Amino acid sequence: MDIFSFTGYYTARIIYYGVSLESQSPQRWIVGVTGASGIRYAIRLIDALVDLEIETHAVFSDSAIRVLRDEEGLAISSSNLSAASLLNKESKSVTFYNSKDIGALIASGSAKMSGMVIIPCSMNTLGAIATGVHSHLVHRAADVTMKEARPLILVPRESPLSAIHLENMLKLSRLGVQIVPAMPGFYHRPKEIKDLIDMMVMKVLDAMKISNELTSRWQGS
Ligand SMILES: Cc1cc2nc3c(=O)[nH]c(=O)nc-3n(C[C@H](O)[C@H](O)[C@H](O)COP(=O)(O)O)c2cc1C
Repeated sequence: MDIFSFTGYYTARIIYYGVSLESQSPQRWIVGVTGASGIRYAIRLIDALVDLEIETHAVFSDSAIRVLRDEEGLAISSSNLSAASLLNKESKSVTFYNSKDIGALIASGSAKMSGMVIIPCSMNTLGAIATGVHSHLVHRAADVTMKEARPLILVPRESPLSAIHLENMLKLSRLGVQIVPAMPGFYHRPKEIKDLIDMMVMKVLDAMKISNELTSRWQGS
């Protein structure tokens, strides 16, 4: 064996071990929340991740904080966001970041994360990610997730959609970003708004490859 194939052999083994160790490490997800309608989807997702005891790093943009107040009547500031204030339960598995803290753990690719979900994803944030022009920590963490080739899942919400919105989604989809629009199905015969939220959050957990049964699945007609 010459020196090059010898070095190649050990490099391959190190990469092999690196990948296998990384894939065995516990899940650590970033949840970005932006100022689109449907903040309730984000609350339900974080609540489900807390129940599943999955390490979660959550960041709300300033607009998300505003929509939290407008839609849910929750007057929470980014400095007092916590599991208790958002979910009415205590949890050590979720950490909240200020969206202005661009030096936070999740701003660096060296922090090992499983991936990131942005739920709901505003058209502003969709455009920022598609162009790489950042205004806050949600955008930076998404950019890092893409550059590190980790799963990025967007849950966009707007209606109707302009050609710019559609082009941004297509561009990101072609780059490997998963677009899971906030469009719940009705085939599970929802009776309450909660049933629609659960259907959507189940789709998001499925995209994250996290096993769950938030609501009933289609069994065939
Ligand atoms: C009550 C409310 C609802 C909104 N709903 C949407 C929406 O569904 N989709 C969207 O793209 N923007 C929506 N916006 C506008 C965004 O909040 C705005 O574009 C903001 O700049 C997004 O900032 P962010 O991406 O940093 O969170 C809404 C704003 C408010 C106050």
